[in-house]
This record gives sequence, C-alpha cells and structure tokens, in this order.
Amino acid sequence: MNKIQNKTTENKLIDPFGRRIEYIRLSVTDKCNLRCFYCLPKGFKDFDVPDDWLTFDEIERVMRAFAEMGVARVRLTGGEPLVRKNISQLIGKLDAIPGINDLSLSTNATLLAKHASDLKKSGISRINVSLDSLRPERFAEITGGSSLQPVIDGLMAAKDAGLTPIKINMVAMKGINDDEFEEMVAFCAEHGFTLRMIETMPVGSTGQEAGKHFLSLQEVKTQLEKRFDLIPSVMSGGGPARYMRVNGTDLKIGFITPLTQHFCETCNRVRLSADGTLYLCMGQNHTYELRPLLRQGISDNELKEKLKEALTLKPKEHHFNDEPGKVVRFMSKLGG
Ligand code: GTP
Ligand code: 5AD
Ligand code: SF4
Repeated sequence: MNKIQNKTTENKLIDPFGRRIEYIRLSVTDKCNLRCFYCLPKGFKDFDVPDDWLTFDEIERVMRAFAEMGVARVRLTGGEPLVRKNISQLIGKLDAIPGINDLSLSTNATLLAKHASDLKKSGISRINVSLDSLRPERFAEITGGSSLQPVIDGLMAAKDAGLTPIKINMVAMKGINDDEFEEMVAFCAEHGFTLRMIETMPVGSTGQEAGKHFLSLQEVKTQLEKRFDLIPSVMSGGGPARYMRVNGTDLKIGFITPLTQHFCETCNRVRLSADGTLYLCMGQNHTYELRPLLRQGISDNELKEKLKEALTLKPKEHHFNDEPGKVVRFMSKLGG
C-alpha cells in the first residue's frame, strides 16, 4: 500500500475481511411494548436495568468517535426505540455530529402518532416500520394481543410529518401471513410506502421456534412475479435488501434474505446495545464491552483505538443455516 492510500484508510474502520464499517445500528433500549412471538417470549420481563444503560452523553461520545472514523449512517433500534424517554434529545445530539448524514429509526409504530413530528424536527429523516399483518385479529395473534389501529395511525402521522421514505418490514411466515402479500403490496402502493419482506432468522429460542414457519423469499418472489411484473431496482439505504420495482408504478419491494442468499460479504455494520456492548455480528456471539471503558475515563483517542481493536473480532458471516441454535439472545436486545 502506498502512502496516499495509507493516509486515507488509516482512520477508517476496516474489518479483518476488508469490509469498511460505515453503519451503526444503535439499540437505545431492549424493552418493547409488543411481544411478537418470533422475537420475545410471552411474559418476558428480564430487561436491562437503567444503571446499565449508556446515558445520552455516553452514546453521543461513542457515535462521535465512530463518525470520526467514517461512520455516516446511524439507525436507532430497540426493542422499541420510542419507549426510551426523551429520545428526541438523543436524536438532536446525533444529528449535530459532523459526518453522520443518514439518521433513521426502526419502530413498531405503536407510539409513532405521538412522536412522528418531533422525530422529524430533531433529525430523523426516514423510518422503517415492522408490520406483519393488516388484519386486526392476526396482528394481535402475532404481537401477543396488541391492537393494529395505533400502528396505522402512527404510519399516517409519519407520512404527514414528511418522514420519507417509509419502509414496511414484513417477516414472511408460512401459515402465519403467507396469504397476505398481495394485500400488503396494495397497502404500500396506496400510501407510497416501500415493502420489504424478511426471512425469519433463528435468533434466540423464539426465533429458532419460529423457524417452523420459515418461508424462502425465493419462493415468495416467484409467487409475486406471477401477479406483478417485477423489474430490478435500487433504493437508498444502508441495509441488505435487494429491490425490485412493480413495473408501471413507483412501488418498490425489497427482499432481505439472510438464509437463502446471505449478504455477509458486503456487511458494513456493527451494533451497539443499550448497555454499551458492541455486537460485531447479529448472527454470532462476538462482543466487546464499551461501558466500563467509558466509565473509567478513557480518552477520545483511546476510545477510537478500542473501537478499532473491537473490529478485529468481527466474524466473517453468520451460521444460521448450519448452527441455528447458536444465538441465544433475543432479537429485542439489538432490534434486528
Ligand atoms: P435501510 O437503511 O433502510 O436499508 O435499513 P435496514 O434494512 O438496514 O434496517 P431495518 O432495521 O429495517 O432492518 C430490516 C431487517 O434486516 C431486519 O430484520 C434486520 O434484522 C435485518 N438486518 C439488518 N442488518 C442485518 C445484518 O447485518 N444481518 C442480518 N442477518 N440481518 C440484518
Ligand atoms: N427474524 C427476522 N426478522 C425479525 N425481526 C424480529 N425478529 C426477527 C426474526 N427472528 C424483524 C422485525 C423488524 C426488524 C427490525 O427485525 O420484525 O422488522
Ligand atoms: Fe416485535 Fe420488534 Fe418488539 Fe421484537 S422488538 S417484539 S419484533 S416489535
């Protein structure tokens, strides 16, 4: 490597497989107000305790260090990120960090009607919303008894607040919602949303159990192609979806296929949990603790060195297909 290349890459986060990390998924709480059966067990209450949560100042500090090393995208996740109090304050702090130019949020939308306009004002430009069914009874069955209407209200408020694009995340599950794809396509087309289908991942005992409903998105795509003329497309975003557009319309459908066509070779992200643990891969158990370092009074330069050190632990890929029992944490710990 010559000197010029060295200069431009020395301060960047490159993992042992040559992948550049420029996207942080930031979980601000592991709590959720829903109990989707594939994510959390019924009655689950063993959440992180407040003393263990990073403060907003601590989160800002870590994100500033990341941004100085080339991270440009930050996605807030949960659990459900909107259950963390005063979340707009944190968003404002993150929005002010030089270099972060894509600040987004993944939510179940139940609390979005109340928050949409503040989110937009404080710096969130776009959101992704988990929604697996548009049928109230089915929605309640999937989420452990919740109502659909607040989610629909939340989506409409987000649209009115000018959050765009709005992407709908639908986990495709055999025997659960596999008769509803066309309805979801119609709903997204009507409201100008983007639809993204997701393959069930064996994360935690709940995710592993949900494997009995696994549906290959290759099959779903074939099914949709019988009904719609799908042409390859692209869409802004930092994630792993591959997009098609319904010919003659603006509707895009993204396919997120961790099991049938994984995307680990282009992985560009790591995750920070609410308790200050860096998770190097969603499908593995490699972690690096930041909270003790932050509370021991580490300097900014040392913090950046530690982030680089953490990156050396990033594994090559997940083993969801050959070792589905490997990840024991629940999905809500990191919010996907
Ligand atoms: P965009 O920036 O809009 O592309 O967002 P995104 O797709 O990265 O974020 P979102 O929170 O909407 O995630 C959608 C789905 O993709 C969730 O089910 C995530 O669990 C999954 N996903 C995101 N990143 C990864 C990843 O690194 N590995 C795997 N296996 N799944 C991921
Ligand atoms: N497999 C696939 N996707 C999941 N999500 C939660 N649990 C799983 C799982 N086991 C999705 C949510 C949300 C996104 C952030 O992750 O439905 O859309
Ligand atoms: Fe459902 Fe998301 Fe909550 Fe998990 S974190 S229970 S997927 S809404």
